[in-house]
Amino acid sequence: MPHLLHIDSSIRGEQSVSRRLTARAAASWRAAHPGGTVTYRNFGTEPLPHLDEAGAQARLLPADQHTPEQRRSWALTEELVAEVKRADTVLLGLPLYNYGAPSSVKTWVDLLIAPGLSYDPATGAGLLGDRELIVLASRGGGYGAGTPREGWDHAEPWLPHGLSQTGMRPRFIAAELTLAPVVPAMAELVSLHQESLAAAERAIDELWVSAGAAA
Ligand SMILES: Cc1cc2nc3c(=O)[nH]c(=O)nc-3n(C[C@H](O)[C@H](O)[C@H](O)COP(=O)(O)O)c2cc1C
Repeated sequence: MPHLLHIDSSIRGEQSVSRRLTARAAASWRAAHPGGTVTYRNFGTEPLPHLDEAGAQARLLPADQHTPEQRRSWALTEELVAEVKRADTVLLGLPLYNYGAPSSVKTWVDLLIAPGLSYDPATGAGLLGDRELIVLASRGGGYGAGTPREGWDHAEPWLPHGLSQTGMRPRFIAAELTLAPVVPAMAELVSLHQESLAAAERAIDELWVSAGAAA
């Protein structure tokens, strides 16, 4: 039975553009995978606890030597890794906040990286690579080549590096300039935003077209 792990991380509730995009992608995935099942997480309303000292120590010690705090942290990592392993497809909403990824996404990545669970400590091989990871990114500004803040988006360039140990390789679909419709000073960028959003929606609609036709 195909399985989807759908994660949102926007803190903007119903206003969220990335949530709108992940919802569209999840609907498209369900249509292409009738009978498929879905696990949903919303880090915007239910963030994970940070990787702390107990979690770091848990990664260095055999499980039978864990303190209760280390056991709790390790159990959460086991749960998060199992969620990913169960999924054929992972959908992740990735807003840009203060020029970086939401701290909740950083925490998810920190918790996922664990020897013996998400990578083989003997070989360094990632153990989560055998699935697709589709990232729906949204950002208020524009960061393309030649723009004044080219290079200031540290969310999209970071994620492939952050996850590299696990073997997961994200494919990005992004909507830019999402603040243009609400910030008067960006009014002249509204049409560029609309083009970016429409292109993102088209890319989402094409994701599982062949899977749906084959089903
Ligand atoms: C706390 C916060 C920080 C933000 N920082 C940035 C930023 O650094 N650069 C930017 O282009 N947009 C920034 N924005 C705008 C968001 O990127 C924009 O609203 C985008 O649509 C966020 O995705 P979401 O709608 O799914 O939440 C910020 C928004 C919030 C709420």
